[in-house]
This record gives sequence, C-alpha cells and structure tokens, in this order.
Amino acid sequence: MLTINVVTLFPELFAAPCATSIMGRAAGQGLVTYRVVPLRVYTHDRHQTVDDYAYGGGAGMVLKPEPFFEALDDLEAAGPVVLLSARGRPFTHDAAVRWSIGAALTLLCGHYKDVDHRVAEREGVEEVSIGDFVLSGGEFAALCVMDAVVRLLPGALGDHESAATDSYYEGLLSPPSYTRPPTYRGHAVPEVLLSGDHAKIAAWRRAQAERLTRERRPDLWARYETGHRSDGTD
Ligand SMILES: C[S@@+](CC[C@H](N)C(=O)[O-])C[C@H]1O[C@@H](n2cnc3c(N)ncnc32)[C@H](O)[C@@H]1O
Repeated sequence: MLTINVVTLFPELFAAPCATSIMGRAAGQGLVTYRVVPLRVYTHDRHQTVDDYAYGGGAGMVLKPEPFFEALDDLEAAGPVVLLSARGRPFTHDAAVRWSIGAALTLLCGHYKDVDHRVAEREGVEEVSIGDFVLSGGEFAALCVMDAVVRLLPGALGDHESAATDSYYEGLLSPPSYTRPPTYRGHAVPEVLLSGDHAKIAAWRRAQAERLTRERRPDLWARYETGHRSDGTD
C-alpha cells in the first residue's frame, strides 16, 4: 500500500481528483492512501501566516520555511520528498515507476512567487518540474505526479497491458489508436488495423511508435537507440 502525502495551501483542490477515476478507484481498492496536509495547520499566529516578503526585495510573496519543515517533521514515513518547482529536474516516467514501488511519497506544493529555498535544501528533498512552463501553484503539478504514479500500481488499471503499451513505458511514444467507425468524415482507419493479422498489426504499431518518437522526440529516440545497441537487442 502506497501512502501519498501532499502538503498544500489548498487542500480542497485534491478532493475530487482523489475520489475520481483511476485515482479514486485505486484508493477504494486499498492500493493507495492520500493524506492531504493543510500547510496552515503548521502556523502559530492568529492570522495563520504562511508567506512573507522576499529578502532583497522584488515583487511577490515567498512561502515561509517553518510550516513545511514542521509538516515534514510530523510525517512518520515520508518516503521520497518532492518539492514541485518550475526550476526542478524534469518529472519522467522513470521517476513515476520508482515512486510507485515505494511505501510512501510526499509532495510539497509551492505557491505565490516562490518557496523559501531552505525547503529545497532540506536533506532528502528533491525539486521536480512537470514541464517548461510556470503554474500558479504546485497543486496541479502534484496531481499530475500522483496520477502518473498511481496508475502504475499493480491492479490500479483494469488491464495492466494498457500501461505497458503506453508512451514511455518502453522508451517510445505510443502508436496512434482508432475505434469505430472505419471511415469518419473522409478519414479512414489504416487498412492493417482491420486486417485481423496480429503480427502485421504489431509491426505497424512498432513502426508508428518509432516514427513518432524519431520525429517528435529526438532526445528519447537517441536514448532508445543507444539502449538497443548496448543491449544487443537490435
Ligand atoms: C508561480 S510558481 C513560482 C515560479 C518561480 N518563481 C519560478 O520562476 O521558478 C508557484 C509554484 O507553482 C509550482 N510550479 C510552477 N510551475 C511548476 C512546474 N513547471 N512544475 C512543478 N511545479 C510548478 C511550484 O510549486 C511553485 O512554487
């Protein structure tokens, strides 16, 4: 059973996503528990102050270190501690796999201009970004990480095959999918998918996955090719 702790200024943002679809079902099956910790619980003044002006000046408020430190002190088994941050290392499928096999994962959500950098410097904390853009807060980033991790838990998906054939699982983008009708507004489903020839379909999907990865993600393609060469599997 995986426990995902989330420390946030906006706990209400987690209610529906944690109760819906794969994330909700996985919790219902006892595969994961979500513990959403309101940051303001760890304030000690009448106004429950979580932020302050930036040293050195400049626009925007900075989240204070103490509430995050105290929230972490209170967690018995935090597992990897991730501070969602636009300056973090990119979140990847490999990280999702790593975190899905642990017992716990803790996500810290920033907001406003920034989080006091001593939170990122606390031992064991890693800064992770979900992409090269800036969100208003870490909550939606945390939800992306949670969903990506939870769907990898054995039993979370009805058919585990569907995770194993998704993008990134084997280092490639996933091939395109089609369903009925066979022709729609002049666009036909590729013949091979209607052929019933499983070997041909698998070969077509492989070729599409390789083409898309080569065209859209030369970085992934280079890694994939290198892996295959050094494996001797190619
Ligand atoms: C407005 S942003 C702060 C951006 C920060 N001043 C910067 O330029 O790197 C507020 C919070 O949103 C979250 N956030 C923003 N962009 C993110 C991203 N790409 N990945 C993960 N978290 C992000 C972080 O928790 C961050 O502390």
